[in-house]
Amino acid sequence: MNKRATIEDVARIAGVSTATVSRAIHTPEIVSDSTREAVNGAIEQTGYTLNLAARNLRQQRANATVVLVPDIGNTFFSEILVGIERVASAAGHTILIGHTAKDPVREEKYLNTLVNGQADGALLLNGHLPDVVIERIKNAAGGGFPIVSVSEALDDQIVPHVGIDNVRAAAMATQYLLDHGHRHILHLRGPGDNILTHQRMAGFEQAMRAAGLATNPDTFLDGDFTIESGVTAAHQVTRDPTKPTAVFCANDEMAIGLMSELAIRGIEVPTDVSVIGFDDIAFAKTARPGLTTIRQPRAEFGECAMRRLLDLINGKESGFPFINVLEATIVERGSVATR
Ligand code: RIB
Repeated sequence: MNKRATIEDVARIAGVSTATVSRAIHTPEIVSDSTREAVNGAIEQTGYTLNLAARNLRQQRANATVVLVPDIGNTFFSEILVGIERVASAAGHTILIGHTAKDPVREEKYLNTLVNGQADGALLLNGHLPDVVIERIKNAAGGGFPIVSVSEALDDQIVPHVGIDNVRAAAMATQYLLDHGHRHILHLRGPGDNILTHQRMAGFEQAMRAAGLATNPDTFLDGDFTIESGVTAAHQVTRDPTKPTAVFCANDEMAIGLMSELAIRGIEVPTDVSVIGFDDIAFAKTARPGLTTIRQPRAEFGECAMRRLLDLINGKESGFPFINVLEATIVERGSVATR
């Protein structure tokens, strides 16, 4: 049987040191093109593959990150994962996906990978930490575990966070409708147990108040961030005797459900009712009419959060306190008309 090629074989053939081979593999951006090409050629020639298990044992690291995702079916999260994976794989990190389905038992199970050494750090896309982990972080000198929250902040922000200013972005969406002459605007909100729901409601109310418009319980439609809840809301919009002219939806999935059911009921968007969403998921562009919405920079969320996490894992920063607020922008399509 052929002997397995070693890093020394690659270094000898490429004419560089083993440290340079390692840099060319793990941090290719810091070596020159010619060195990278020489190392890649030598890798190909020798058939060298990394012995990851040996490396991890040597480093006493898993070189893996666990990502807790509340709903892998929502495309909002997949683009965040793309950004996370991009940075993680460039750093030689593997990603473990923990689909939590908002179940605390699953959350605890996946966070256990930090305790049993299967993962070095965690990215939270679910806005929640089990009490036992919170206690451990609060009591541990140096912060306990390397954890960064993304998009949904924790109620008690005890770990670093990456996201947008949701209050501001929701006010911007509402202002857009106001600027287009709408005065009777409803807000289709998210689930009551989600921090984003309250932040986006606050932004909506802030913009309405600033325009001298009062809100009351009838101004709000109940949703849960799913397409189905957008469909249900369409029934309420069509039955509303006060004839709202616009709806600000707390996410795109609900906006798309709302628009398609309004179309079925013969209500035209934007001529009869204008709709604005939040997120800019891929389907916002292909919806008919195209959905005007707030774009959240999701790949950037993932990249920024993963970079922060790697710094924490590598002891490059204390990790607290810091919040990275990224920019949300309006994407204008065809679902809002001027009154
Ligand atoms: O949980 C889903 C929602 O949370 C997304 O649609 C997005 O708005 C996110 O912030």
